[in-house]
Amino acid sequence: MGNPWIDLPSLGDDRGQLCVTEVDAHAPFDIKRVYWLYETEPNVTRGLHAHKELQQLAIAVSGSCKMLLDDGESRTPYVLDSPHRALYIGPGMWREMSDFSADCVLMVIASEVYDETDYIRDYDEFKKSAIPAR
Ligand code: TYD
Repeated sequence: MGNPWIDLPSLGDDRGQLCVTEVDAHAPFDIKRVYWLYETEPNVTRGLHAHKELQQLAIAVSGSCKMLLDDGESRTPYVLDSPHRALYIGPGMWREMSDFSADCVLMVIASEVYDETDYIRDYDEFKKSAIPAR
């Protein structure tokens, strides 16, 4: 698994902070959808799926959470706790999000609109699938 982190420019000044993600400059795909997870209950694990084609960037714009990425061969835990750092999640990557802080807002920027047929929600099916992690 390569380095999935993308540093985003923090354009802060003495008034406060501003961070941006823009196609070509930071997001390695055309952005078609943005969604965010918030008020996640304690001790909840979310995600538990992979995608066949979808590419995503995950950014903890507030608070923190953990993201476990599994490319079918190894499982790597990451901590998302910075609004100016994005975690790239390519196709063929099983993900599990946990340990959400009460104030966590996890923003996800995606390359496609929502499509349930792009999901693999069964771990055994994911392990058997031949989707190469990117
Ligand atoms: P789900 O995939 O279960 O969330 P998580 O991966 O965080 O556990 O999504 C929750 C619900 O929201 C589910 O009914 C699908 C729906 N949904 C959309 O309609 N559009 C979207 O863009 C997303 C991400 C989910």
